[in-house]
Amino acid sequence: IPVDSFDLVIFGGTGDLARRKILPGLFRRFRSGQMPEDARIIGAARAEMDDEGYRQLIADAVEEFGGEEKADAEGLKQFLGRLHYVPIDAKGDGGWPELAALMRDGVIRAFYFSVGPSLFGDLAERLHTHSIADEQSRIVVEKPFGRDLASAQQLNADLAAHFGEHQIYRIDHYLGKETVQNLMAVRFGNVLFEPLWNSHYVDHIQITVAETVGVGGRGSYYDQSGAMRDMVQNHLMQLLCLIAMEPPAQYDADRVRDEKLKVIRALQPLQPHQVVRGQYDAAGGDPSYRDDVENPRSHTESFIALKTHIANWRWAGVPFYLRTGKRLKARTSEIAVVFKDLGHTIFEGDTARHRNILAIRLQPNEGMDLQVTIKEPGPGGMRLVDVPLDMTFADALGPDQEQVPDAYERLIMDVIRGNQTLFMRGDEVEAAWAWTDPIIAGWEARHDVPKTYDPDTQGPEDAMMLMHRDGRRWREIREEFKRRPG
Ligand code: BG6
Repeated sequence: IPVDSFDLVIFGGTGDLARRKILPGLFRRFRSGQMPEDARIIGAARAEMDDEGYRQLIADAVEEFGGEEKADAEGLKQFLGRLHYVPIDAKGDGGWPELAALMRDGVIRAFYFSVGPSLFGDLAERLHTHSIADEQSRIVVEKPFGRDLASAQQLNADLAAHFGEHQIYRIDHYLGKETVQNLMAVRFGNVLFEPLWNSHYVDHIQITVAETVGVGGRGSYYDQSGAMRDMVQNHLMQLLCLIAMEPPAQYDADRVRDEKLKVIRALQPLQPHQVVRGQYDAAGGDPSYRDDVENPRSHTESFIALKTHIANWRWAGVPFYLRTGKRLKARTSEIAVVFKDLGHTIFEGDTARHRNILAIRLQPNEGMDLQVTIKEPGPGGMRLVDVPLDMTFADALGPDQEQVPDAYERLIMDVIRGNQTLFMRGDEVEAAWAWTDPIIAGWEARHDVPKTYDPDTQGPEDAMMLMHRDGRRWREIREEFKRRPG
């Protein structure tokens, strides 16, 4: 179903995110018939360029970053016809009257701030003073949303000066991922799991977001940020919220976000011994983290593992272990709910530890598997073995899975539809910073130095110890097994 008609202005429309994700994503939506006939996309950035120049830039971007849709030359031509461009001065007045003149009445006006946060306030103010935004307008902002609580509060205040919270869409692209939403479907759409989803049955929960890439190319941003600010404060925190929150009374924006906020507010403060920071070393001719960021004395972490607790009735005593890092063994992200051991076994001689584990795979190979204990087939008596009940969504749901939209395209369409469920509310972002700030301040005060780790591994040894000390272990970071034929 097509959304209502819109004019979408992308500030920073010539930038990396616009070329890599936003425009190729919009082209896919255009092809699937979701963009109404007269919807328009207006790039706005510093560079002097006309509509034709911008269309060429985006044609090149689709060629470079697009998927199979780029073979559709006729479709691309039509899509490019929807694009316009206005050179704009974010801090001055240049280009604003031209932009105002271009906007149409009677359609949704959305403004995507695909620029650094230092410009958010300027853009919001100029949209207001040039009367470009109205009550129905929406603004979309990207992370980093601040670098600590104080700066996030300032950004929220700058936006709130001209826009209501119902108009502000803060993107965390993890919330646009298919399996992340599936987490809610699994928890609240089945009778099976929710009764077990608490400290009576759950031993612990592990969340892993492992990447194989380094930080090459983004060094100047990343070295000021580190894994805590870049990944934990936002993406991992969101996953934690969805796995741990109470059932909202309804699947709507404020009810879901109220429940997430309660989780963040119930997080216990982190103690230094509950956190392990790492930095990847050089190996086999590949540069080290410090080479990548061109800072030989950097103390920024490219890996972090931590243990936390949620101090509420449901989760009392259940540890949540989170880890994320660059240059690890494989690109795999998953959430694993590890259930408690049986209190008593009736099978004599069976001394192995059998555990039910529900693993939700975000990427690659989205799906779930539930580890269950069964009898080992064949003769030999009641010997028990653990096997995964594997449900890979692509297998279960057929080839249409290939059409699963990328996180960004889904989120942009939600902006046009006016659905804020998958966006972060201002108070959520602030609460997340309030939790990460003290631990970051502690590292800075102590001049904490991250442990080095070899690339292509599970991360620093100390991260293993974090779990071993508790008599637990991380699930292995490894390439998914190739699926069995047939
Ligand atoms: C971004 C981080 O928000 O998420 C990057 O800034 C990280 O450092 C990326 O690589 C990971 O996203 P995805 O979708 O590839 O898992």
